[in-house]
Amino acid sequence: MNVRLLAVAVLAAVIGGAAAIVMLPGTREKLSGSLPTTGQALVGGPFTLVDHTGKTVTDKDYRGRYMLVYFGFTYCPDVCPSGLQVIAAALDQAGTKAAEKIVPILITVDYERDTPEQLAQYVPMFHPQFVGLTGSQEQIAAALKAYRVYAKKVADPKSAAEYTYDHSSIAYLMDPQGRYLTHFTPSSEKAVDRIAERLKQLP
Ligand code: NI
Repeated sequence: MNVRLLAVAVLAAVIGGAAAIVMLPGTREKLSGSLPTTGQALVGGPFTLVDHTGKTVTDKDYRGRYMLVYFGFTYCPDVCPSGLQVIAAALDQAGTKAAEKIVPILITVDYERDTPEQLAQYVPMFHPQFVGLTGSQEQIAAALKAYRVYAKKVADPKSAAEYTYDHSSIAYLMDPQGRYLTHFTPSSEKAVDRIAERLKQLP
């Protein structure tokens, strides 16, 4: 009996060891792609940018509050203004208690035109809490990469602005430690209600 138990234990150890080998870092990375949102999400990360007051900031400056991060640009004719309006309306609808825990952030994809001064004129039109962030081409490229945001400069000869950006329109909600919680699509139906409901539930 004892021998049999020992055999089972040895077998278990062997299987356990084999499983550990299978779970080597490279393999784990491949597996995580097909798993639900358990563990460390792949969205977000450190950034160093310049805010709309001209101050250099990093993601760590917003620790302790939830970041609601949207990528866009001030010359955007329609998608960004409506997205930012939805975020602002959701903050208002969630109420002061919830809104106080949140920093709504616009990170520009257009480092050439969106200076801190330009952002300072733009973001308060949507909500007094809004923070506008810009930076060098490299700084913005790094932030885009961290958040896996698509943005592409496209010539627009018909417009006086000469160029525009194709970009994804997603708002990322990051927790007070800067980790990804969830994301919203501001252009989707009833987005204000859905975002506000989620923000109200934040501990
Ligand atoms: Ni836009």
